[in-house]
Amino acid sequence: MKVPPRSASVLILAFFAAAALCPSARAQLGARSAAEWVRMLDAQARVSKLRVDDVVAALAIPPGAKVADIGAGSGVFTLPLAGAVTTSGRVYAVDIEQGLVDHIAGKAREAKLTQVQGVLGKFSDPALPARDVDLAFIYDVLHHIEDRATYLRNLAGYLRSGGRVAVIDFFPERGPHRNDATLQITKEQTRRLMAEAGLRLVAEHRLYDDKWFVIYGK
Ligand SMILES: C[S@@+](CC[C@H](N)C(=O)[O-])C[C@H]1O[C@@H](n2cnc3c(N)ncnc32)[C@H](O)[C@@H]1O
Repeated sequence: MKVPPRSASVLILAFFAAAALCPSARAQLGARSAAEWVRMLDAQARVSKLRVDDVVAALAIPPGAKVADIGAGSGVFTLPLAGAVTTSGRVYAVDIEQGLVDHIAGKAREAKLTQVQGVLGKFSDPALPARDVDLAFIYDVLHHIEDRATYLRNLAGYLRSGGRVAVIDFFPERGPHRNDATLQITKEQTRRLMAEAGLRLVAEHRLYDDKWFVIYGK
């Protein structure tokens, strides 16, 4: 067998080390390209069942509020949230895919919603530019985050005192990932993670048959 020269061996080793450390390979569960996400998230069959207006109404967001749309995706909720906060507020559209952050920024520009700000988050930290956020909104996202405990602990650090975190996610047995335990999270698991992050349950809504909807407060 021909032994590769030393420099080639170093390159090969470096390649495998980088692949092992590559965050997208280990920290987003159920990852897709930005284009695939947009196609899937904007599908009419999905959007028509989201009850966007009912969700935004249930969040009772006052004008001027600072809201973080965590895992904003294609922005299905970002723009209605921007309507609720009005131009005196702010919606941070956080995603770990730069393509999706850019996609939402484009949509907000077209709609002339200057209160929307795209944020490229990190896998375990939303990297928000403010520490007085009124509401973090996490729709169909928590089950995609690998290190949920660290994420929620970091997220709590960006909330003002009295700030809230709203989570909507699938009942595992009724959701699209019923055969993949790695892509599931229960309401009870979330309660424990929230307690570890110093947050307590302040409200629960029943809008869906297949999803739970809870709001925690700091
Ligand atoms: C199923 S989509 C939901 C998008 C949007 N919330 C909605 O309901 O239309 C999940 C989104 O979470 C994002 N995501 C996954 N892990 C994330 C993380 N650690 N931080 C921020 N966003 C994340 C994905 O890139 C994707 O846009």
